[in-house]
Amino acid sequence: MYTIVTASQKGGSGKTTLSGHLAVEAERAGAGPVALVDTDPQGSLAMWWNARQVPAPHFVKTGLLDLGQTLAKLAASGFRLTVIDTPPAITSSISQVVAFADLVIVPTRPSPHDLRAVGATVDIAERHGKPLIFVLNEATARARITGESAVALSQHGTVAPVTIHHRVDFAASMIDGRTVQEVVPNSASAREVAELWLYIQAKLSRLVRDPSLIPDFQPQHFAVNALMGGEDSDDEEDDEAVDIPPPLKQIIEPPPLVSTYSGPERRVNPPGTPYTGVERRAVAFGRRRMLVP
Ligand SMILES: Nc1ncnc2c1ncn2[C@@H]1O[C@H](COP(=O)(O)OP(=O)(O)OP(=O)(O)O)[C@@H](O)[C@H]1O
Ligand SMILES: [Mg+2]
Repeated sequence: MYTIVTASQKGGSGKTTLSGHLAVEAERAGAGPVALVDTDPQGSLAMWWNARQVPAPHFVKTGLLDLGQTLAKLAASGFRLTVIDTPPAITSSISQVVAFADLVIVPTRPSPHDLRAVGATVDIAERHGKPLIFVLNEATARARITGESAVALSQHGTVAPVTIHHRVDFAASMIDGRTVQEVVPNSASAREVAELWLYIQAKLSRLVRDPSLIPDFQPQHFAVNALMGGEDSDDEEDDEAVDIPPPLKQIIEPPPLVSTYSGPERRVNPPGTPYTGVERRAVAFGRRRMLVP
């Protein structure tokens, strides 16, 4: 059984949202059976799951002291993947959970406060020698700060090439225990979650060296999507910021067409006419020119 831990010292960065969404997506993608474990005393994930009609993914609320035992039981029961949600702020609690991780997911909003806080989470993962991926969450499409945050985060570790944008779907779908994939399956939000899971699944398969985890389908356009700010340019939130940095602008806006010259021909040898000048090739008429020793 493999264990993914969502962790970040910063409160409200999207740990619970991503835990629920990734667990549901992993189950849908056939990476299950999946178990969700809530180690946060706030119990947000537990409340979400209690409102849920569908039993999968399986759910366990556990204290930190019982975590090892809980995970051993889940593994023995045949669960293939566990996603653990952690509380914010309490370094020692986060650290105890991260100790069990095969991969740590750090949701981070593109804001100075979130960026300043990542150091503490990175320290915890490094102390345990655990691989970590940042996921930009609640990003505003095409806002300059999203790209700048990705660059800042990349100084600390890998940044997922799939960004989760700020959309009401994410909060609204969780009210009755569901996720965006279940409530609005054809939405941009659902597509982001699906792509994020595919990326994480491929990453996890490499980390744990398990080829059976490699997704059947792997989109090749992750990086380009990140540059373009997703395909949701018609979302209402986009109106807030359309400040496109110059290099990206060149990608988004095709260069103007250069008009062709229509004046008189001024070349000595226009295309198609035989060359009448001096022979300058080393190999003429199929024979190599003899060199005088
Ligand atoms: N991509 C998103 N778009 C819109 N709202 C979001 C998004 N991600 C999270 N939210 C909302 O932000 C709030 C905080 O999210 P969440 O509870 O997942 O964060 P958290 O890191 O688990 O918080 P805590 O540190 O308190 O446990 C919630 O109301 C959630 O619905
Ligand atoms: Mg939470």
